[in-house]
Amino acid sequence: MMNQKSKVKVGHLKFVPKTLLITLKAKYLASRDSSISYKDPYIEQIYEQIEDPIQDAPLFFLFKRGIVSRTKGFDYLLKKEVKKRDTPPTIINLACGLDTRFQRLSEKLGSCQWYDCDLPEVIETRKLFFKESKQQSMKEIDVLNPDWTESFSEVENPIILMEGLSMYLEEDQVQSFFDILSKKFSHYCLILDFISPFFVQKEWILPVMEQFDVSFTWGAKGGNSFKKFDQDLRCEEELGFIDSFKNPFTKILGPIFNQKNMALLKK
Ligand SMILES: C[S@@+](CC[C@H](N)C(=O)[O-])C[C@H]1O[C@@H](n2cnc3c(N)ncnc32)[C@H](O)[C@@H]1O
Repeated sequence: MMNQKSKVKVGHLKFVPKTLLITLKAKYLASRDSSISYKDPYIEQIYEQIEDPIQDAPLFFLFKRGIVSRTKGFDYLLKKEVKKRDTPPTIINLACGLDTRFQRLSEKLGSCQWYDCDLPEVIETRKLFFKESKQQSMKEIDVLNPDWTESFSEVENPIILMEGLSMYLEEDQVQSFFDILSKKFSHYCLILDFISPFFVQKEWILPVMEQFDVSFTWGAKGGNSFKKFDQDLRCEEELGFIDSFKNPFTKILGPIFNQKNMALLKK
């Protein structure tokens, strides 16, 4: 293992890009926690090489479980969609951070083409840990730049993943995001997560968020509410972050948290 001096510094990540470190840490701690059924050796290796700036915070144990539940939800929706396709799809993983989904699932995804995409400062960091291959590459993409889809000029009906970003956008930015997608792709499948509108401007509910200069700015009640951004969108399946929690918290928190937080949308 590297010593503290030789660790990879991530101090250049600010605002929303910095939040990739909380999901990384949550997945690392979950992977090391024998009471949680989640193993991610790739995340363990990355986390052990970085200089982690995130302080311990109350309720992180809940956050950790929520992130694992979201990760598993995305894995499940993605594998199911890939299985349905007659030909290997192109998978565009937007706002990927230091996500390891391709490494974890590659055997089950067959010969799909995979793109990990994020802002330039994140891709720069990502390149320290991941190598590109024929099947998997990285792209610097700002999802709010109307030209981002030009990198995929030949692609039709992709599967697009966007995990952990929608809650930091404004409603008009979510609208622009969907406008950009429909201008380029006549058909696509989008798997994304979202918070309940109840949590907008309430990031303080999760004390770890105090270490980040960001706010939760947008939420959705469920997968069907995305129709307002594009009439032709259909919600094929939706899941909740706490659907997989098997403990008393579900019962206590259910009335507040019992909403859907991930959806598979199709156009
Ligand atoms: C909470 S992290 C999620 C990272 C990863 N998807 C995961 O679940 O571990 C949010 C990510 O959104 C990215 N992001 C923020 N604004 C973006 C934008 N305009 N375009 C693309 N990515 C963006 C950040 O750089 C960061 O990696």
